[in-house]
Amino acid sequence: MAVLKKMIAAELLEANEGLFRCPICIADMTLRDKAQFVCQAGHSFDLAKQGYVNLAPQAHATKYDKELFTARSHVMASGFFDSVVDFIAKAIQERLGDKNKLTILDAGCGEGTHLMNVLGALGGERVGVGIDLAKEGIVAAAKAYPGTIWTVADLANCPFRDAGFDVILNILSPANYAEFTRLLRSGGWIVKVVPEKQYLQELREIFYAGKEAKEETDPVGRFSEQVSDVHVEHITYPFELDRGLLASLIRMTPLTWGADEEKVAEALQSGLSSITIDYKVLIGQRAE
Ligand SMILES: C[S@@+](CC[C@H](N)C(=O)[O-])C[C@H]1O[C@@H](n2cnc3c(N)ncnc32)[C@H](O)[C@@H]1O
Ligand SMILES: [Zn+2]
Repeated sequence: MAVLKKMIAAELLEANEGLFRCPICIADMTLRDKAQFVCQAGHSFDLAKQGYVNLAPQAHATKYDKELFTARSHVMASGFFDSVVDFIAKAIQERLGDKNKLTILDAGCGEGTHLMNVLGALGGERVGVGIDLAKEGIVAAAKAYPGTIWTVADLANCPFRDAGFDVILNILSPANYAEFTRLLRSGGWIVKVVPEKQYLQELREIFYAGKEAKEETDPVGRFSEQVSDVHVEHITYPFELDRGLLASLIRMTPLTWGADEEKVAEALQSGLSSITIDYKVLIGQRAE
């Protein structure tokens, strides 16, 4: 199975090698012997047996671990994010539906379910590329979803040539607009999802009881300064939980990092049966 995954990934990478550039020296790259990405200056990156390639020049310690991504996959499989995916797919269809082939990057893709679901909802010839700095996310994505390009990479130093993508998704992850602008084709679109005030409020109540340190950020303002033709969609709904899903929800969110075990137990025993989902989806076109 692993051999097959690696072969599928090698074929995909070979067919799309023109998208890539070396993360160390920005030279063009080619796939050698279906096993290694090599740049013109000789930097090389092995294709892993699970079917992904690590193009982060250094290893990065991250709190996003295997358990977190397993929990995220479980929660996403329950339909937690489906309304947002449907909205995103429709928005892309409306803006770029007449293009035969779309190349879509998910910057900060985690365990890959959102990119897969967006590609699935769009249909047609779509090339999907997911990058994340957390290796465990990319390993999970590559195992679950062969047929899409999965790469460990830093979205602040993207290993791609200029103007290769029609759409960049950036879902609940940090943005780097200089990179996103460089990577988008003329007329391309960024779709960013940010949490809103009521997002997971029932969990916030248990963990912070209203004493949460509020960061003063303005993601919509920042986004609007970088792109044109901006659309902001507020999507909010209650989502039903059972106990198994609640346990995964508690584990999947950075909200609970550093929380003591007592609080985690309290949240598990709370019997919470519904959680508030509250996002903004920001859509904007690359400014010319
Ligand atoms: C809250 S998770 C969201 C993951 C996924 N988009 C989702 O919605 O399930 C944030 C993700 O951003 C990734 N991330 C943070 N900084 C990054 C960077 N500089 N380059 C690439 N990924 C990064 C993390 O590793 C993590 O997977
Ligand atoms: Zn190089």
